[in-house]
Amino acid sequence: MEISLYSNTCLINADCNKYMQYMPDQSIDLIITSSPYADQREKTYGGISPDKYVEWFIPITKEFKRILKPSGTFILNIKEKAINGERHTYVLELILNMRMNGWLWTEEFIWHKKKVYPDNVLYLATECSNRNHSASFPETLPEWLIKLFTDPGDWVVDPFLGSGTICAVARKLKRNSVGY
Ligand SMILES: C[S@@+](CC[C@H](N)C(=O)[O-])C[C@H]1O[C@@H](n2cnc3c(N)ncnc32)[C@H](O)[C@@H]1O
Repeated sequence: MEISLYSNTCLINADCNKYMQYMPDQSIDLIITSSPYADQREKTYGGISPDKYVEWFIPITKEFKRILKPSGTFILNIKEKAINGERHTYVLELILNMRMNGWLWTEEFIWHKKKVYPDNVLYLATECSNRNHSASFPETLPEWLIKLFTDPGDWVVDPFLGSGTICAVARKLKRNSVGY
């Protein structure tokens, strides 16, 4: 096979729903995209209702599957929006639905958006000190979460306290606590 020193770039100014059908089967190694966010950027490029997201996306993923080589990979940058204080489940539903269509769900990567608060990637060392328990938390983990979600004087419960890390940290941070 002849290998060119130059790469090809093909831009198709069209709806992928309509035009991906012209791509050959099993010809692509990687599909990587950030799909339109559900109901979030309506002013710039329209939006899909979170409740309709899976229904909208599954037909497109079927086309992805057709054009990907069997060894190919699909990477989707997505995060569900919260509605009434709860994260919507459309991303989870999409993953489960794609699995039913033969996709293998292999990894979840977290894009660390630096300086965004609260951070959703916790860089914490594990603790090796022997606390006579095989699964004790490093103290820094509950410390970070207790500080984020409570104020001094609030109550914290750990129903599976084990070696007692949560109560010890809560006490250090002047939170009340109950451990079982
Ligand atoms: C989340 S943005 C992707 C941004 C992109 N990753 C970048 O770096 O600019 C989604 C984009 O998909 C486009 N889009 C929405 N529906 C589309 C469709 N059916 N076919 C092709 N593009 C579409 C939107 O206009 C929007 O620009």
